Amino acid sequence: MSAFQPQWVEADSPDERGSPRKAWVPAEYGVDGRFATRRVLSRGGQGYVVLAEDRWSGGDVVIKGMWWPETTLDDPRTVRATLSDHKQQRDQGLRAAWQAAQLTQQCPVVISVETQPSPSLLAAGRLPDPDNESFLVQQFIGQRGGTSLTLQQDIDARARENRRYTEDELLDLAEQLCNTLAALHADRYIDKKSSKGWIHADIKPENILVLGPPARYVLIDYDAAVQIGGRIGFTTRAYAPPSADGSDEPSEKASAAERFDIYMLGATLAHAAGLERLKDQQYRQLYADDPKESAPARKYLTSLGYGPVLTGALITSLSSWRFRLSTVDRVRIDLARARSATVLQSVLRSLGGASR
Ligand SMILES: Nc1ncnc2c1ncn2[C@@H]1O[C@H](COP(=O)(O)OP(=O)(O)OP(=O)(O)O)[C@@H](O)[C@H]1O
Ligand SMILES: [Mg+2]
Repeated sequence: MSAFQPQWVEADSPDERGSPRKAWVPAEYGVDGRFATRRVLSRGGQGYVVLAEDRWSGGDVVIKGMWWPETTLDDPRTVRATLSDHKQQRDQGLRAAWQAAQLTQQCPVVISVETQPSPSLLAAGRLPDPDNESFLVQQFIGQRGGTSLTLQQDIDARARENRRYTEDELLDLAEQLCNTLAALHADRYIDKKSSKGWIHADIKPENILVLGPPARYVLIDYDAAVQIGGRIGFTTRAYAPPSADGSDEPSEKASAAERFDIYMLGATLAHAAGLERLKDQQYRQLYADDPKESAPARKYLTSLGYGPVLTGALITSLSSWRFRLSTVDRVRIDLARARSATVLQSVLRSLGGASR
C-alpha cells in the first residue's frame, strides 16, 4: 500500500460558532514515529480518527486527534485555551476507558497517549516553538485490514434486508452492553482509597462496534464520560432523556447517575429492536409519568413482538427517572429472566418436535 500523504482534513461539521474545523494529519505519530498513518476513518463531531500501524507490534491501532477551529489557528492567543479544554476532556475519557478496560474486555484497550509538537500548529506555520498536542492511541476493533462495523451500520443493513434481530440476539446485545456498563459504573477501592464510578453519557448505535460472528459488541468513545455525581457536559440528544419542558436541552444532566446510561441503553436497544430510532414524540410519551399518555408508545414497542420481560425492560429503561431501574445490575436481572424464558421456549419447542 502506498504511504499516506500528510494533509489537511476537514471535519464533517463546523464548530458551535460556525467556524470550519480542520487538522493536519501527519504520515506518522509518536516522537519516534512509532505509528504509521494508513487512512482517515472518521471526521465526526468530537475529533478525527485515523487507522495506523503500530510499528512495534505490526498491529492495527486507531488514533484520535482533535479538530482545530480555523479561528483558533488564526489567533495565537486562543491556542492555549483550546489545548487545555481538549486535554481536560481527553483526560476524563482516558480515566473512564482505563477503568472499563481493567474490568471488562469489551472496550478498546488504550495503547498509549502520544504527546508531541502539534502537527496542525506546525503546518499552520506556528514556528519555531509550537505547543504540544496529545493523541489517544487505542486498539483497533474490527477485521484485519481496517474495516469495522458500527451497530448503526448493522441496524441499517438489517433494515434494508428486513432482517430483524431475534430475541436472543437482542438479549446478547443488551447483556454485553450491561457488562461493560457495570464495569464502568462500579466504585473502585484501590489502596484504601475509593473513587466513584463513571457514566458513559453517550451510548448510541454509532458508539458501539460489532465483531464476530458470534456477535461481540464493544462500547467505544469515552470522551463524554463523567464521574457519578458530576455534571454531564456532552451527550447525544437523540438518545438521551428528553427535556421535560419541550426544549432541546436533554434533562438529568446536572448530576450524572447510572439511570442516565440506562436510558441511553434503552434508547439504543429500542432502535435495534424496531430497526429505526423511536420518534421524539414516542420518547416523550414513555418519559411521561402518565400511563394514558405513554400508551401509544408502549403499544408500538409491544407490537415489535419480543417477549414480555424484554419489552418491559425497554419500557422501564425509557420511563421517567422515578420508574426507571436504578442500576445496571437490576437490568441484568430482568435480562436473565427474559433469557430463561427464551431457553424454556426453545426446550419446549424441541420436546414438542421430538414427540411428534
Ligand atoms: N477502537 C476503534 N476501532 C475501530 N474503529 C474505531 C475505534 N474507535 C473509533 N473508531 C471509528 O471511528 C468512529 C468515531 O469514533 P468515536 O465515536 O470514538 O469518535 P467521535 O469523536 O465520537 O466521532 P463522532 O462524532 O463521529 O461520533 C467510530 O464510529 C468508528 O467507526
Ligand atoms: Mg462517537
